[in-house]
Amino acid sequence: MSQEFDVVVIGGGPGGYVAAIRAAQLGLSTACVEKWTNDKGATVLGGTCLNVGCIPSKALLDSTHKFHDAKDEFSVHGISTGDVQMDVPTMISRKDKIVNNLTMGVAGLFKANGVTLISGKGKLGADKVITVTANDGATSEIKAKNVILASGSVPVNIPPAPLTEDVILDNEGALNIAEAPKRLGIIGGGVIGLEMGTVWQRLGSEVVVYEAMDSFLAMADKDVAKEAGKLLKKQGMDIRLGTLVTGTEVSGKEVTVTSKNGAGEESSQTFDKLIVAVGRKPYTDGLLSEDSGVGLDERGFVHVDEQCRTEAPGIYAIGDITRGPMLAHKASEEGMMVADIIAGHKAQMNYDCIPSVIYTHPEMAWVGKTEQDLKAEGVDVKVGKFPFAASGRAMAANETAGFVKLIADAETDRVLGCHIIGPQASEIIAQAVIAMEFGSSSEDLALTVFAHPSLSEALHEAALAADGHAIHVANRKKRK
Ligand code: FAD
Ligand code: NAI
Repeated sequence: MSQEFDVVVIGGGPGGYVAAIRAAQLGLSTACVEKWTNDKGATVLGGTCLNVGCIPSKALLDSTHKFHDAKDEFSVHGISTGDVQMDVPTMISRKDKIVNNLTMGVAGLFKANGVTLISGKGKLGADKVITVTANDGATSEIKAKNVILASGSVPVNIPPAPLTEDVILDNEGALNIAEAPKRLGIIGGGVIGLEMGTVWQRLGSEVVVYEAMDSFLAMADKDVAKEAGKLLKKQGMDIRLGTLVTGTEVSGKEVTVTSKNGAGEESSQTFDKLIVAVGRKPYTDGLLSEDSGVGLDERGFVHVDEQCRTEAPGIYAIGDITRGPMLAHKASEEGMMVADIIAGHKAQMNYDCIPSVIYTHPEMAWVGKTEQDLKAEGVDVKVGKFPFAASGRAMAANETAGFVKLIADAETDRVLGCHIIGPQASEIIAQAVIAMEFGSSSEDLALTVFAHPSLSEALHEAALAADGHAIHVANRKKRK
């Protein structure tokens, strides 16, 4: 007889494992089906985020940032270090240890909360019956009152650059390069391209980024994108906009990339490694049988409403397989919302208030709409901007590049967006997220007391600047 659960989650990434834990906390009998195995054949939880995404990439970014500081920045503070070396295998194994600790930690949380882990690949059939195929090919069936689909995403591949064992790599391969390549090519100047380019550039790689679009970081506020382009170029990153890779030829341990720029000029360049980072696509291979009742949209995402309900009653989908940004925190929040709904609670999430961060140095972070989007919508806005160059704490830290830009509705003063490039942007943005979530005005932020000296004061000053009353930059308006 097949096992039956109140909730079966397919996929144990940050969407699925969080949904499973919350469902179990709410007293629902819960199972999570996961197919990811490690090199020892054991099932691992955490999905893309913990295994090959957010966490390992940030581990490498942190290691290489410390290396860069020691090598190039400490002397400003009077610290001499001698010849600073990076042992790449140690850096990689530290990253692997963190990944292992975290994935084991999730397995521990499953045990503590009473979530049943079912190893294997799940396929949803009619009447919410899930067929699980184990690694050895054995199949079993489980029945669910409710199903949460959370199978995530995989990298997009492009025909001119088919992946190879160790020269043309996707984002997973990019996390495990054994030594810094002398010449590194990257296809795609998006989030992964810039983060991984930063990692290896700090270790000495000459980095060339091929970006198909004419504009840089099209999803970011134009001021942030412009400043980022300038700073990354200064760091040595060669970002070629409007450039399409037309072919690659691998010869031994090298790859020659041919490309065409916007003017139609062809060129070729040889690299030791090439990373392909041109986006990710929803992963639904073998997930749904024809009679599951669940539909996909034209781009292959599982079709859901605002509360992640699919067309089939009792079946939900969350995270990267559904519309919206492909971000771990979006997946997790959806997971909690859906578990709450299944348990009979009222729940919804605010899709207008999801922060984005790019962990280059300086970091970029934003929430809400860009100035360009708001203007295109005809919204009358006021903008307050404060440069870190005028922040005492930023000066003390020798981190003065960038700014905080706060956008508020000109009429109601409600905060509509915040866009940051600068030190600790990933932390400062949380304050703007809270302000927006609480429906704050820029005046609310201007009237809030911020600790001095702190980088967060730049947000305070940006809020003051929205009314022309910043203290530490020249004022535009006379205070009434
Ligand atoms: P996933 O994490 O992809 O998990 C899906 C899980 O489902 C996987 O474990 C998979 O094995 C399993 N699965 C799939 N199909 C089946 C099946 N049929 N049966 C059983 N199991 C199945 N986001 C951020 O917010 N911040 C970051 O800093 C960040 N950095 C990133 C860096 C990189 C290099 C990459 C690639 C991504 C990064 N992301 C980041 C994005 C983030 O990893 C994803 O948005 C997030 O993991 C999506 O979570 P998910 O649960 O929807 O899917
Ligand atoms: P992306 O969508 O961020 O960037 C892909 C880039 O490749 C785009 O700029 C696109 O114009 C370009 N491109 C597409 N096809 C191309 C081609 N043929 N030639 C040259 N350029 C081409 O996707 P990316 O970087 O692969 O990351 C995938 C997703 O993972 C992100 O969208 C994000 O949601 C998530 N992620 C989040 C991170 C974070 O939160 N810090 C870090 C890394 C990934």
